[in-house]
Amino acid sequence: MPLPALQKFEQKIERQIRILEARKFLIERKIERQIRLFEKKRDNLARKIEHQVREFERNKGIRIDDEVRFLRSWIERPLSIGAVTPSSKMLARTMARYVDPLSDGPVVELGPGTGPVTEALLEAGVAPARLVLVEFNPGFCRILQSRYPEATLVQGDAYSLRRLLETLLLQPAAAVVSGLPLVTKPIRQRLRLVRDALDLMMPGAPFVQFTYSVAAPLPKRLGGFSVEASERIWMNIPPARVWVYRKSDGR
Ligand SMILES: C[S@@+](CC[C@H](N)C(=O)[O-])C[C@H]1O[C@@H](n2cnc3c(N)ncnc32)[C@H](O)[C@@H]1O
Repeated sequence: MPLPALQKFEQKIERQIRILEARKFLIERKIERQIRLFEKKRDNLARKIEHQVREFERNKGIRIDDEVRFLRSWIERPLSIGAVTPSSKMLARTMARYVDPLSDGPVVELGPGTGPVTEALLEAGVAPARLVLVEFNPGFCRILQSRYPEATLVQGDAYSLRRLLETLLLQPAAAVVSGLPLVTKPIRQRLRLVRDALDLMMPGAPFVQFTYSVAAPLPKRLGGFSVEASERIWMNIPPARVWVYRKSDGR
């Protein structure tokens, strides 16, 4: 291509790039505006709900702080909270039933939230000092700290379980009880978590998980563990089922 033609071509390309950059800038501004608008609407909605709950509390003479905190966290991060309200007593007790209070070693709870399952574990006779609570929501951590001062609280990502607990646990865990919204994660991540948990526990110890979905959070065919399921707990909103995984012999 002759030189003037090449220069012209370059100028044309530069012009196109500038136009594209200007468009990109406008689109980014538009997206940011939409995000800010969404956040404003979300905050207004959360405030409105909270106000209505407070009114309800005043009228009925009761306090439902945990539900409000839960709802607010759900509005902020629906996928990582995974539920609109804390688990019912019935579901929490069903989960706790799979933990032998007389067994040895720590009992690890993943995603304890405001503590309904923690409460059920204590009610079932698990000593508070055996509890290791892994929660990443700072608000929930503050509640757990004040309610269960004897438990070991780990503020962190339960999906990095091995790194979080490897040096913390002085002996194999007696059980891992999980309230994590496991099914929102890809199957490989679920599998890694359950396998890591089983490796941190003594042989035959249970990994206890609840879900609202009909299917098992991890299908048995993936291998290396046995699977057991509770009856569906209709008294929970939404109805839930408890799944128990144990390392099979030979893994
Ligand atoms: C469905 S709620 C269950 C809370 C409580 N166990 C109950 O039954 O009401 C899920 C909990 O898991 C916590 N969570 C979600 N992802 C987590 C993660 N990667 N690491 C630690 N906690 C997590 C959330 O903050 C929330 O407290």
